[in-house]
Amino acid sequence: MAIRYVCLQDFEELSALHTESAKMLARWMPGPPIVTFEDFESYLTRFDGPLHEGFLICRSDTGEIVGWVNVNNIIRGTHQSATIGYSAYASTTGRGYMTEGLGLLVRHAFDEMELHRLEANIQPSNTASLSLIKRVGFHREGYSPNFQYVDGAWRDHERWAITVEMTE
Ligand SMILES: CC(C)(COP(=O)(O)OP(=O)(O)OC[C@H]1O[C@@H](n2cnc3c(N)ncnc32)[C@H](O)[C@@H]1OP(=O)(O)O)[C@@H](O)C(=O)NCCC(=O)NCCS
Repeated sequence: MAIRYVCLQDFEELSALHTESAKMLARWMPGPPIVTFEDFESYLTRFDGPLHEGFLICRSDTGEIVGWVNVNNIIRGTHQSATIGYSAYASTTGRGYMTEGLGLLVRHAFDEMELHRLEANIQPSNTASLSLIKRVGFHREGYSPNFQYVDGAWRDHERWAITVEMTE
């Protein structure tokens, strides 16, 4: 498994993956799926500045995209922290790809991006995401009522995080 930055050339592959996964993503993800080229161009502008970085998780053997993970709201200085968002796709979930990909992302964030803490916010009923984040080594920090508007309602989220010290 490998991680790399998302780029404009990924449109066709990502559009097909988002189309096949629209139902699966709608329940858990705040944004609409990327289907049109305009959707994708607009999505990529998020990564123009220093605040957000967009990565794809790919199979090393075929290069096939199997998931994505974004490092959002990067705070420098005395925090060196960020919040991650991620998903697999309908045809790639349940194979261990995300566990390996998020593991690589954590190493990249700490070693190359010089971050110190990563946070993930997960709905209590999202058991697949909770299992994943535990496997990757995050710890539960707390509970945030009405944290984010997802799928038509303000949803409670659990707050999970990992710091460099937890990986040493
Ligand atoms: C949350 C999400 C990313 C979890 O992904 P995932 O596919 O479960 O994670 P992995 O790719 O690491 O697969 C792990 C699962 O595959 C199983 N698996 C099957 N074959 C495997 C293999 N060869 N190697 C490792 N694991 C394997 C594991 O047992 C595990 O299932 P379990 O948690 O029931 O034990 C995915 O369900 C998803 O995209 N959901 C919709 C979007 C979403 O919720 N995003 C997160 C918002 S907070």
